[in-house]
This record gives sequence, C-alpha cells and structure tokens, in this order.
Amino acid sequence: MNRLKQIILAVFIIFSFLFVFSNEPTITAQQSVTEALTGFDDQSNGFTDASTHRENLDAFAETEGIKDGVGPVFNSFSCGECHSNPVIGGSSQITELRAGHFDGQKFIDHPGGSLIQSRAIDPSIVEKVLDGNEVRTLRLSLSILGDGYIEAIDDSVLLDIAKQQPNLSGGKINGQALWVPVEEAPGVMRIGRFGWKSQQASLLSFSGDAYTNEMGITTPLFPIENTSNGKSISKFDPLPDPDEGDNDDIEIFTEFMRATKAPSRDMQLARTSSAQAGEGLFNNMGCVICHVSTFKTLPAAFKINGGTFTIPPAIGDKIIHPYSDFLLHDIGTGDGIVQNAGQETRNKIRTVPLWGLRTRNRFMHDGLSLTVNEAILRHAGEASFVIDKYRALSKKQKQQVLTFLSSL
Ligand code: HEC
Ligand code: HEC
Repeated sequence: MNRLKQIILAVFIIFSFLFVFSNEPTITAQQSVTEALTGFDDQSNGFTDASTHRENLDAFAETEGIKDGVGPVFNSFSCGECHSNPVIGGSSQITELRAGHFDGQKFIDHPGGSLIQSRAIDPSIVEKVLDGNEVRTLRLSLSILGDGYIEAIDDSVLLDIAKQQPNLSGGKINGQALWVPVEEAPGVMRIGRFGWKSQQASLLSFSGDAYTNEMGITTPLFPIENTSNGKSISKFDPLPDPDEGDNDDIEIFTEFMRATKAPSRDMQLARTSSAQAGEGLFNNMGCVICHVSTFKTLPAAFKINGGTFTIPPAIGDKIIHPYSDFLLHDIGTGDGIVQNAGQETRNKIRTVPLWGLRTRNRFMHDGLSLTVNEAILRHAGEASFVIDKYRALSKKQKQQVLTFLSSL
C-alpha cells in the first residue's frame, strides 16, 4: 500500500468513526434501562410533578359522602381507607367478603354477585350471606404502590413465564395467565395482573370497578349500581346513575397509582449475611419460580391498554422486583370463588407480590396467616415440592429465609 492509499484509508476510518459517534445522540436518546424508584415517602416516581401528585393523593384519600354517591351498599368511604399502610396507597387489615354456592360441578354467584358489600346507607338493605351459599372467603386489601410499573409489563412476558414453569417431581407448577377485558378500550383484552384473581390488567379499569364496588359510586365506565342481595335498591339511591357525569375521579386515582414509587427494601437488613443466605435458599428451593424477582417494563412511548395509555419515561424501561408471576396457581389455599374466568380458576389465587412484605402483619388472600412462617407452611398443591424443601431446612436456614423475606 502506498502512502497516499494509507492516508485515504486513515481518513476514511476517522470519518466512519465520526459518523458513528455523530449518530450517538439518537442512540442515547433511547432511554437506558434503570432501577425503578422505590420508597414509602408519598413522593411521585416522576410521572407527575410533586404538586399534582399531592393533589391526586388527597383525592385518593378523600372521604366521599352519600351526597357524592356513596352507597346505597358499599364497603368504605375512600380508597385511602383500605389502602393506607404505611403510606396512602399501601395495604391494610381491611378484608372484604365474597360468597356463593358450589353445586358439585360449578360455582354459582351469591344473588347479587359474589362480593357482599358490608355497609349500607339504610338498615333494610345491608347485604347478608343467604342460606345455601356455603362458599365464603375473606379478601385482604392489597397495596397499589408501584402498580404503574406492573401495568407496564408486556403480556408476552407473563405468557412466557407461564409457558416456562417447570414440571417438578412433586407436580407441575402451572401458572395460569388470564385474558381480561380492558374496560376503557372495548373489545381489547390483556393479561390480568391486579387483584387476588388477576381480574384486571388496567389501573383505570380497576379504579372504575373499585369506585362502584367498594364505594358505590358509579361512573360512565361502570354505570350500573349494585343491588342488595340481588334486589334493586334504586329507591334508596339519592343520585341518578352514573353518580359521576364523567370519569375524571377514576382518572385521577389512576394517575395517582401510576405515579407511586415501588415499595422499598430494608437495605440494612438486606445486606446482612443472613438475608443474603436466605435469598440464595429462596432462589435454590424454587420459591422464585412463582415469586419471580425481577421484571423490566416496556419502553417509554409504547402504547398499552388498547392504545389508551402511552408509557411515560418515568415508568418505561424500569427494572422492578415484585416477587410475583401475576399468574393464578392452586396452592391448596383456593377460595372456591369463580370471579372472571373459567371454573378451573375456582381454587386458584394469584401469586401475591412479596415486595412490601415487611409492612404487613396478616398474610394470604384471607389475611388469616399471622406469621410469614405460617403463610409459607400453608402452601401445598402446585407449591408442594418447593415447600417440602423449606420444611427440610435447618432451623438456622429457615431463619435466614425469614430474614430475607422481612427485608422485602
Ligand atoms: C373496603 C376496602 C377498599 C376500598 C374502599 C378500596 N379498595 Fe382497592 N382493594 C381492596 C381489596 C380487598 C383488594 C383486593 C380485591 C380482590 O382482589 O378481590 C383491593 C385491590 C385493589 C387494587 C389491585 C392492587 C393490585 O396490585 O393487585 C387496586 C388497583 C385498587 N384496589 C384500587 C382501589 C381504588 C382506586 C379505590 C377507590 C376507588 C379502592 N381500591 C378502594 C380494598 C379496598
Ligand atoms: C406454585 C407457586 C408458588 C410457589 C412455588 C411459592 N409460592 Fe408463595 N405464594 C403463592 C401464592 C399463589 C400465594 C398466595 C396464596 C393465597 O393468598 O392464598 C403465595 C403467598 C406467599 C406468601 C404470603 C405473602 C402475603 O403477603 O400474604 C409468602 C410469605 C410466600 N408465598 C412465600 C413463599 C416462599 C418462601 C416460597 C418458597 C419456599 C414460596 N412462597 C413458594 C405461590 C407460590
């Protein structure tokens, strides 16, 4: 190669580099993947500014009255009353009641629906469990903190987890993914991920559902008032339905939930050698098959919920650690209720996310396990093989698992 050719080649290489690097802004303009914000601090994750988040939080916690549409049958006066520990949006000790009948083949809803509202605005319409409805369950209030990130998990991720769950010698771990309707996008279905039965996929859908079913406030999205044990109670209803002329309130609740940070860990405890050994055991025993530790959310600008919501930069491309697969499993704790899917879901419950576990003192869907160890020992069915490994641990190893769990 003569000198001139060498120079031309060198110039070519330099220009190639310049070209690549001059394109860099479009490369870095794509958001990099980062850990989601965490904290029990009432602050926004960046989706809304601080003052909007404060206003939305106040709306979520605001006590509504009968004149605002509460009732005629309802469970409580505000979202915040049940979602408040240790900050607004968290969980609480409040449970709800569901009931129905099993005829040997299939579950039949209690008259008026399996949800039995526990309060009413008149003594004559308080809902009761009627004879012949021997299937009953309590449902503990769930935390909504960090749910914006959960909403931004792609359906395909949940479907892949379901597909890949293994056949262990104790039986198949057989997580079931459910397609559920997105109410604000008629005809659109997504994989359910919210609620004890994975009954919703969209936080706006859940908000409309909760406003009607928990508080008795109907909206254009959920315009139909509840009955009392199947009997119309419209003569007790001071407002024509829908109680709200628009969906503004439920949109505000949704914006609040999407802007919450994920539950934070107790990092001091998490760094102890005991917690780290416990985490290793949790993974090796196979708890992590259902309590999946890590997910990545869809990228910013991606549209979900039938195109009705565009993922913002604050929620997109985030790493989260919810410790759940959001799938339904029969681990022998099933509550006998068929809510939103086929009869095979009767005794299945969604893997409850373990993030924020350290803030709770009642466990499982009914809140009837009062220590984490008791909650673990209640797992059977699909979880038998894994739980047998837990039973076989030494006292010290069990303590390590519990230390790890209490850092979550
Ligand atoms: C009476 C108590 C109560 C009230 C009031 C209440 N909730 Fe809930 N919330 C619950 C319970 C119980 C669950 C679990 C229900 C189930 O799955 O059966 C739940 C679950 C949820 C979930 C699913 C969380 C998850 O990650 O799975 C969302 C979202 C939610 N509620 C939002 C709201 C909103 C918004 C309001 C106000 C309009 C509200 N809730 C009012 C008790 C309540
Ligand atoms: C086959 C799936 C599966 C496996 C494996 C599994 N879990 Fe679970 N876990 C669940 C489901 C489903 C629930 C909720 C059950 C209910 O509420 O009735 C749950 C609930 C829990 C809870 C209660 C949390 C709360 O807030 O109520 C704890 C703690 C827990 N699991 C820990 C473990 C540990 C530790 C292991 C491993 C030794 C394990 N799980 C293995 C599916 C599983």
